[in-house]
Amino acid sequence: MIWKWSSNIKGMGILITPSILSADLAHLQDEVDSVESFADALQVDVMDGHFVPNLSFGVTVLKHLKTKLPLDIHLMVSNPADRIKEFLDVGVSVITFHSEAVTDTAARKDLIEKIHAEKIPPPGGRGLWGGDKIHVGIALNPETPISSIKDVIEDVDIVLIMSVHPGFAGQKFIPSVLEKVKEIRKKFPHLTIQMDGGIDMVTASGCIKAGANNLVAASAIFGVPKEKRGEVIRELRGE
Ligand code: DX5
Repeated sequence: MIWKWSSNIKGMGILITPSILSADLAHLQDEVDSVESFADALQVDVMDGHFVPNLSFGVTVLKHLKTKLPLDIHLMVSNPADRIKEFLDVGVSVITFHSEAVTDTAARKDLIEKIHAEKIPPPGGRGLWGGDKIHVGIALNPETPISSIKDVIEDVDIVLIMSVHPGFAGQKFIPSVLEKVKEIRKKFPHLTIQMDGGIDMVTASGCIKAGANNLVAASAIFGVPKEKRGEVIRELRGE
């Protein structure tokens, strides 16, 4: 299911984005294949060991990955502006950077503009995630207030509300962040609100109720046997 970015929040479905952070990396292609026909996108967590205390994947891994799923890049790096080109070059659909990593309004707007200027994925690139442009997301750590993104909230396509402290899969969901989701949804009925961290069968419904329409999950999906992943994705979506 591809959400039409122009449709009203009430008329759209819930997008589920598995995060490969909990996948069996020794068999990454098989892991991706196991969710290919159920998921709406695939999230790739890019960590630099500086913005977050962990290292993960770079663009080299993506070059080898075969999938028709739109790739959603969550940049947990201190210098997103230096990294976006290499990801755009391999054909991604969403690039999200952290509000805490880029605090200056002019720098944020410049970054958003550069990503939006990339209209078509290169030949061999994956499909776009609705619409005809690369989408830009801005992420907020659990303690970061909504007020910190008021300068660019109308320029982005996605606001990512982190429901754990970024860096590791398998952490406990922080319920207080749901207040931010409710507040954003009230003011921005058409914005995609993505949530990431500790999303599972128990926490997903509260996220959707609060107004999130895109849930990212690593452990809840890749932590179960391959044959159960389709069912888990459907349940997370509330189907
Ligand atoms: C956290 C990452 C998440 C992580 C979520 O730093 O951004 O994408 O993979 O993992 P789970 O779903 O296990 O909480």
